[in-house]
Amino acid sequence: MNKEINKNLPIGFFDSGVGGLSVYSKFVKLLPNENTIYFGDLKNIPYGNKSKNDLLMFARKILDFFKTQNVKAVVIACNTSSAIVYETVKNEYDFEIYPIIQSCTKVISSYNYEIIGVFATSATIKSDIYEKEIQKYSPKTKVIQLACPNWVNFVENKTIESKECLLDTKFQIETMLKHNPQKIILGCTHFPYLTKILSNFVSKDIFIDPADIFVEYIKNSLCEKSILNDNKTNGRKEFYVSASPQNFVESAKVFYELQTLPKLIEL
Ligand code: DGL
Repeated sequence: MNKEINKNLPIGFFDSGVGGLSVYSKFVKLLPNENTIYFGDLKNIPYGNKSKNDLLMFARKILDFFKTQNVKAVVIACNTSSAIVYETVKNEYDFEIYPIIQSCTKVISSYNYEIIGVFATSATIKSDIYEKEIQKYSPKTKVIQLACPNWVNFVENKTIESKECLLDTKFQIETMLKHNPQKIILGCTHFPYLTKILSNFVSKDIFIDPADIFVEYIKNSLCEKSILNDNKTNGRKEFYVSASPQNFVESAKVFYELQTLPKLIEL
């Protein structure tokens, strides 16, 4: 890793779509001076039903793009990519890569919950990563993992308010609550968009949005590495998508109001 990193260099964020904005919006509130580049891979969404080979190919293209942008770090604002590709790509680049799951589970485990639930994409649940990571620090915690394969589409297609979404979320919550979890992790960055709907069925205090822990983790790490941007002015914000720029702006609104259309790029 390059020892003399310029603090002004941007930080890259990526996700399959608008999900990562649930992390990004908290990050730019915490560290408004950082220059940032957000990439939404709408051409390949959803990630949750893709193979490891496909997810690796998507991630490498995005990381290669960030390399051309001379980033000082990349935030994987996507649980699925963190679960499936982070271990493989983490040493392939000379900038720091922050995965959401592995950066947060130590803090979540420190509460030593007896039973904790996880809602995530099919790929994340299949990987068992939440159970492995939590039990690494808190071996006695029982982890109930439930895939919610339709939820990303509700968010991206702006059908959060539909009857279909209401029925689906109700079913998943009821299934989860049968296990009596003390907390439920929203283990996909799209899922915090559904908090309002989910709170029709259970108090919203039961949910953990890992983004809150994640942005603090990144801040501390940048600080330790002495690469926090110390500019006094607001950072530059750039947005890119691999498809559907208008749709991105519309779906993003719950978490982030974009002032202009994101740039469309073919990776
Ligand atoms: N938002 C992503 C995640 O955190 C990906 C969802 C998807 O595209 O399936 O898992």
